[in-house]
Order: sequence, then C-alpha cells, then structure tokens
Amino acid sequence: MSVLLDVQNVTMHFGGVHALTDVSFQVMNGEFLSLIGPNGAGKTTLLRAITGVVSPQSAGISLDGKAIEGLPTHKRAALGLAMTNQIVCPFNSMTLRDNVALAVGHKRIATIFRAITAMDRSTERKIAGELLEVVGIGEHADQEVLGQPLGLLKRLEVARALALEPRLLLLDEPLAGLNHVEAGRLADVVVGINREGLTVVMIEHNLGEVLRVSDRLVVLDNGRKIAEGEPESVMRMSHVRAAYVGKEAENAAA
Ligand SMILES: Nc1ncnc2c1ncn2[C@@H]1O[C@H](COP(=O)(O)OP(=O)(O)OP(=O)(O)O)[C@@H](O)[C@H]1O
Ligand SMILES: [Mg+2]
Repeated sequence: MSVLLDVQNVTMHFGGVHALTDVSFQVMNGEFLSLIGPNGAGKTTLLRAITGVVSPQSAGISLDGKAIEGLPTHKRAALGLAMTNQIVCPFNSMTLRDNVALAVGHKRIATIFRAITAMDRSTERKIAGELLEVVGIGEHADQEVLGQPLGLLKRLEVARALALEPRLLLLDEPLAGLNHVEAGRLADVVVGINREGLTVVMIEHNLGEVLRVSDRLVVLDNGRKIAEGEPESVMRMSHVRAAYVGKEAENAAA
C-alpha cells in the first residue's frame, strides 16, 4: 500500500505549552486511521498542523510525496486536505443545502475554470443535495440550520468537508455528543465513504466505535506518540490503557 500522508518530526509549542513533541506517522492510501489519546494530548493541534491552521516550530509534511509544510491552508485544501471541526460552526440562518453549496463553490473557485463555473449556482446546489444524501440528511436539505439537532449538524459538517473533494478527510471528533445509536450510524456513513476509496483520519474519544471501524490507530499522550498499530493490540497495551486512566479504554478492550 502506498503512503498518502507522511508526517515527520512535528514539534509545536504554544509559549511554554508543549502541544506536540517530535510526532511522526504515515497514512496509507485508502486507510481508515484513528487518532486517539486523552484530553489535551495534542490531537487537534496535530491535524491543524497538517492542514496549516497552526505553524509548528518544525515539521516535514508530504501529501502524495509533495512537501506541503510551507504552503498556506488554502493551497493544502486545493491539494486535497479537508478537516471537520471539533465544534460545529455552520451558517445558522442558511439552509443545509446552501451551507454545503458554499463549500462546493469554494472548491470550484479554487480551480482555473473560475470564470465559467463560479456563476453556476444551480450546479453547486445540486452537488450539495447529493452530498447531503451521502451523509444521510438529504430530506432536510432545504431546512434552516438553526434549531437542528447535533446529530444532523455533525453530518452536515462531514458533507461540507466532502464538498472540497478531498483526497484525505480529517475528522475531529465527529461522534462527540451523539448518542450510541447516532454515533454508530454516523460512523457507518464514514466507513461507507472510506470504502468508496477516500482515506480517513479520525480523532475520536468513542473507543467502541474506534475499535469497530479503524484499520489502524495512532495514540498521542502529552504531545508524544506513544503507540501505533492494529487497533485491538494497541488497546491492549498497558501504557495506552494507563494514559486514559479512566475506564474508557478498559471497557472498549474488554
Ligand atoms: N492555540 C493555542 N494556544 C495555546 N495553547 C494551545 C492552543 N491550542 C492548543 N493548545 C494547548 O495544546 C495542548 C493540546 O491541545 P489539543 O487541543 O491539540 O488537544 P486534544 O488532544 O485535541 O484534546 P481534546 O481531546 O480535549 O480535544 C493543550 O494543552 C492545549 O491547551
Ligand atoms: Mg481536540
């Protein structure tokens, strides 16, 4: 299997806070990799360093062999990186469809066909409707975002990321705040997207779902990578379980 994303020696300090120390890992084409670790471990910071939202003090990051660590966020997005946010932030007074259409528009504006395509709003809205179908909320497409339940907003967030036609989808806690049934359903949506060929990196605290859907895990603790490998063997490692301290890891691996 070929390497899609190669992350080497990422170190990121915020003043005196060592968010990431010398973190390296790779993501293979087609893989579903989950990034886990306790609160404050550095997971979100690592994905933000990959997308360029934060600038690490040192990092070597390549996408499909091309070094991207010096590129601004929008160029990395154009090369195929899309990330969902831990806290969902759609435009509340717009419909679901228009939220996604806006993201479709951003992608098209980034292409050299801008002059031709940017005006074609109906195509953007059609693609947006299809993406909302993919994440299972097509019937809500023309409803306003305001007042919608979190489960739906989490799916909307995934649809907005898919609108960028990514080669690598980075998800920051897509299942957080969802009940057991909703979490399982959204995880299944992501598995379906992955099986269609999209490579996925998912930060997630729901270790039951992580174990069920991931090909491989990377574990961070205190800004350092402490383990990686096949999910069940990683979850059995005593130092990984110790990092969680609580019962979460014990329950998931039992
Ligand atoms: N912009 C920032 N400025 C200062 N400190 C930051 C900033 N972003 C993150 N940190 C710090 O870096 C560390 C790692 O934070 P990060 O958000 O990456 O953790 P996380 O693993 O995503 O945690 P959680 O599971 O709670 O989302 C924390 O100590 C956090 O307070
Ligand atoms: Mg986080």
